Amino acid sequence: MNHFLDIHQTAPTNLRFMIDQARRMKDARDGKPKGAPDETQPLAGRMVALIFEKPSTRTRVSFDVGVRQMGGQTMILSGKEMQLGHGESIADTARVLSRYVDLIMLRTFEEATLHEMAEHATVPVINGLTDTSHPCQIMADVLTYEQHRGSVAGRKFVWSGDGNNVCTSWLHAAGQFGFDLTFTGPETLDPNPKAVEFARSKGSKVTITRDPLAAARGADAIVTDTWVSMHDPESARERRHNQLRGYQVNGAMMAQGKPDALFMHCLPAHRNEEASSEVMDGPQSVIFDESENRLHAQKAILRWCLGV
Ligand code: CP
Ligand code: NVA
Repeated sequence: MNHFLDIHQTAPTNLRFMIDQARRMKDARDGKPKGAPDETQPLAGRMVALIFEKPSTRTRVSFDVGVRQMGGQTMILSGKEMQLGHGESIADTARVLSRYVDLIMLRTFEEATLHEMAEHATVPVINGLTDTSHPCQIMADVLTYEQHRGSVAGRKFVWSGDGNNVCTSWLHAAGQFGFDLTFTGPETLDPNPKAVEFARSKGSKVTITRDPLAAARGADAIVTDTWVSMHDPESARERRHNQLRGYQVNGAMMAQGKPDALFMHCLPAHRNEEASSEVMDGPQSVIFDESENRLHAQKAILRWCLGV
């Protein structure tokens, strides 16, 4: 039984296996209607619980569709409507759910909640985003980059904006897949130091600079995310906007990257805040491929977790 909790906690050979399997499974579905079953049905007879303590569009729909394409069934649960949201412990919830379902996907706040769920569940647990990381997203993003430009190894990725949960998973991926990452943003929103240290310990070059145009120079991909995340207090909004205004990914920043640099964003986006609409809809943008690839990457993650 394998949990998929974080990219830095999953061996590089396993990560590579999942990316390659996702690609094969995606190719095999080419031209099929979305609801058509996959040729093989590795999740036949399996029940998957998808638990959300925060809103979601992509994670919710892509996991649901992916499980069904592979012959499994899903139930979507809102944390608030479960006893979990009314005082039942995470450990007891994990033990109970493990009697009914074959796998649990959890989107939650604290990273500790995810780890407690995994510790007490007797079925695999997948991280569907915490305040700290978003590994499924970055698996889809590695798949997306590689489909457009080949191996991520040795490339220069640039993160502009808030050093948030998605940025942390990019740093984990830098270490595990062997690429470099330059962060540009204000000092108060610097990336997670442990994630920076992890990437560096694996030999990746991690650069932190306050100058967005210098950061973007020679980039293979420029990545950003919302300036205010779901776990951030609403009161942070105005201050964040003032701090991050200079880090918008726009035409001027993209022009510093390589001519074939990609623009990436996990979505949902706030258009003309963290990125200009011109860049989001421009020829270098692969944002909707990233969304699509959540489906394919997670199908491979589900199979790896269940060993099927
Ligand atoms: N990118 C992502 O996880 O989107 P959702 O919040 O819509 O699931
Ligand atoms: N950083 C964002 C990502 C959403 C998919 C958040 O946590 O709200």
